[in-house]
Amino acid sequence: MSTLVIIGTQWGDEGKGKIVDLLTKRAHVVVRFQGGNNAGHTLKVGGEQIIVHLIPSGILYPETLNIIGNGLVVDPAVLLEEKEGLRKKGRFQKDEQLLISDRAHVIMPYHKIVDQGREKLLGKAKIGTTGRGIGPAYEDKASRMGIRMIDLIRPKSLQQRVSRALVEKNCIIEHCFKLPPLNADRIVEEYAEYGRKLAVHITDTSAVLQARIEKGNHVLFEGAQGTLLDIDHGTYPFVTSSSVLAGNACCGAGISPNRVDKIWGVVKAYSTRVGEGGFPTELTDELGTRLREVGAEYGATTGRPRRCGWLDLVILGHSVRLNGLTGLAVTKLDVLTGISPIKIATAYMSNGKVLERVPSNVADLEKVAPRYSELPGWDEPLGECRSFEDLPSNAKHYVNTIENLTGVPVTLVSVGPAREQSIIRKAPF
Ligand code: IMP
Repeated sequence: MSTLVIIGTQWGDEGKGKIVDLLTKRAHVVVRFQGGNNAGHTLKVGGEQIIVHLIPSGILYPETLNIIGNGLVVDPAVLLEEKEGLRKKGRFQKDEQLLISDRAHVIMPYHKIVDQGREKLLGKAKIGTTGRGIGPAYEDKASRMGIRMIDLIRPKSLQQRVSRALVEKNCIIEHCFKLPPLNADRIVEEYAEYGRKLAVHITDTSAVLQARIEKGNHVLFEGAQGTLLDIDHGTYPFVTSSSVLAGNACCGAGISPNRVDKIWGVVKAYSTRVGEGGFPTELTDELGTRLREVGAEYGATTGRPRRCGWLDLVILGHSVRLNGLTGLAVTKLDVLTGISPIKIATAYMSNGKVLERVPSNVADLEKVAPRYSELPGWDEPLGECRSFEDLPSNAKHYVNTIENLTGVPVTLVSVGPAREQSIIRKAPF
């Protein structure tokens, strides 16, 4: 048995979906352990593009078991829509391909209203959330007001818990957001119907996962978002509402830390961010626009243009340390073709002092000036490279520099969106 956790090392959108899809060929089980449909994992297979938000990226392999762990917040309408969409494309033909934890929390209509209403009230100080109700659903989990997947298949409990929650939610909806109150019976009817449709997938997934690990299965844990969006270690408050670090694969899936063998971080060859918050290496000039256009840097979930900038090794070092990375998957190296020199931030300057760590205060992060190293670029397109030796020498030098400066081996290099545009340097299992 072997287990591998894959996480994002930047602000999400590093290309985790492609990497997970690629490595799933060698895995028996793929598990999501946090987040919800704020994520958008883009998979490209045989010219067809598929974007999944909730269902793990292993769904394209019919024999792989996909698990939505207890650490997620699930919007059941989105999940059913995603299932239907995949079915129509000839994928996800067997219900057994997906299990959902009975302990996962449910995103309710009031969570979306609060998420969007709060952003409006915040005005310029908004977080730039995806508006999918993620934060308010996690808030209810922590305040013990949440509805879980198990409640969807227990109508009595659903009725009680929704009625109780609405006492408080309607107060907020009416008084803070000046919107009409929600009706408990209508919500219960709608969500009990979702429960009936999803019942076949709902179970104690932690027990299933542990049994699979004991049986010797290869398991891949699929992180969502990225380390700098982590609720504790990210650029707070411009973060998501869950812990996105490798450590949370254990809590969010229900396994012991001693079951984790390897941890790979996915790092884009440059940086991007959607939403607000500090971004020291951001490029607001033509080069930033070029990265956005060549790299197709538009949000897979919201379609928002992503902010683009140079690779930041202070940020990457933060991720290496917090996640205990044993490998790095460098994605979108091909996007840098034609840019020379290429810059990499190796430290920050702040008030005349050198900073090698990410400041805890977002206002301090906004004030730092990156200190750059310049590396020579290359002009050759990389899309046809299939081995590390095929890369132009300056592209190899760029990858080797990342490896040397982080101290983590680059186990995979991606040179395009398709599965075959990948150089696997070390077997995942
Ligand atoms: P939320 O997760 O919708 O609450 O959004 C909080 C912050 O995380 C915002 O800046 C979002 O743009 C960002 N975010 C959430 N999910 C993703 C993702 O999958 N990729 C990139 N950014 C994300």
